[in-house]
Amino acid sequence: MNKINKICVCGAGTMGSGIAQVVAQNGFTVIVFDVNEEMLLKSKSSIGSSLQKLSEKAKITEQQKEETIQRIIFTSNINDCVADLIIEAVVEKTEIKQQLFDALLLINDDETIFATNTSSISVSGLSNKKKYAERFAGMHFFNPAQLMKLVEIIRADKTSEEVIKTLVALAKQIGKTPVVCNDLPGFIVNRVARPYYLEAMKILEEGNADIETVDAVMEATGFKMGPFKLIDLIGMDINYSVSNIVWEALNKPERLRPSIIQKNKVEANELGKKTGKGFYKY
Ligand SMILES: NC(=O)c1ccc[n+]([C@@H]2O[C@H](COP(=O)([O-])OP(=O)(O)OC[C@H]3O[C@@H](n4cnc5c(N)ncnc54)[C@H](O)[C@@H]3O)[C@@H](O)[C@H]2O)c1
Repeated sequence: MNKINKICVCGAGTMGSGIAQVVAQNGFTVIVFDVNEEMLLKSKSSIGSSLQKLSEKAKITEQQKEETIQRIIFTSNINDCVADLIIEAVVEKTEIKQQLFDALLLINDDETIFATNTSSISVSGLSNKKKYAERFAGMHFFNPAQLMKLVEIIRADKTSEEVIKTLVALAKQIGKTPVVCNDLPGFIVNRVARPYYLEAMKILEEGNADIETVDAVMEATGFKMGPFKLIDLIGMDINYSVSNIVWEALNKPERLRPSIIQKNKVEANELGKKTGKGFYKY
């Protein structure tokens, strides 16, 4: 198995921040890279306040909080992104991810493992023709990544068993529950969850119930979060991209057609919690 000491997380948004926090809390040195300086500052502050809350609740000591903060380096310089494992968590756009991996390949050595946190993009599609295909896999965390236990480890066409074993072991080491999945559109969770979001938006489109009612009844049946609250937490743009990618990858079935309501919200930059407005106001 490959030895992992240093981890580079690319993308300092919702997911990158949570992933960086959890790996740093578990003793790894972490480089957080983003092209947007503002996002790096936001990430630093959100990790700081998340750790502060944990220490106030006595889940970690003051010393553990400080040590975790010390282990994280924030950078907008791609040349700093040299590590044993890269976890990519940038926007859900194939070309952007491809370009980033190509740039990372030039500065990393032949041992580095490349993992993508994509929710829906084909992991084999991202890696198959590349030199690093055997060292490439999906490592799909859930939101909020510092708390949610499940990690889908995606085996792409060429991923080596060694790399799968390393990522499974790493996930366990940071307190997660890894499940190895095949590289299908939406993997398991995002495929099964599509109708949860899409049917809720259809009910809204038809004018048959409002968002509060839909969320309330789904929560009353035992779901932790109603579909609209959950979309706002995930991010409207990310959820909409995932719906489009899964729909297209499955040959555009009518039952999974993305919602016009969601398209309009993305275009209006109503992206949910991260922009202060989505289906709800924050
Ligand atoms: N939001 C979720 O609930 C969720 C859950 C699981 C997986 N994911 C996946 O994680 C990834 C990130 O999602 P998110 O919700 O954190 O998005 P986000 O919009 O919160 O953050 C994306 C970040 O990527 C940065 N970025 C864009 N281009 C970049 C580049 N070339 N190099 C470095 N940084 C770049 C942006 O500045 C931004 O900070 C996506 O692939 C998404 O599908 C999201």
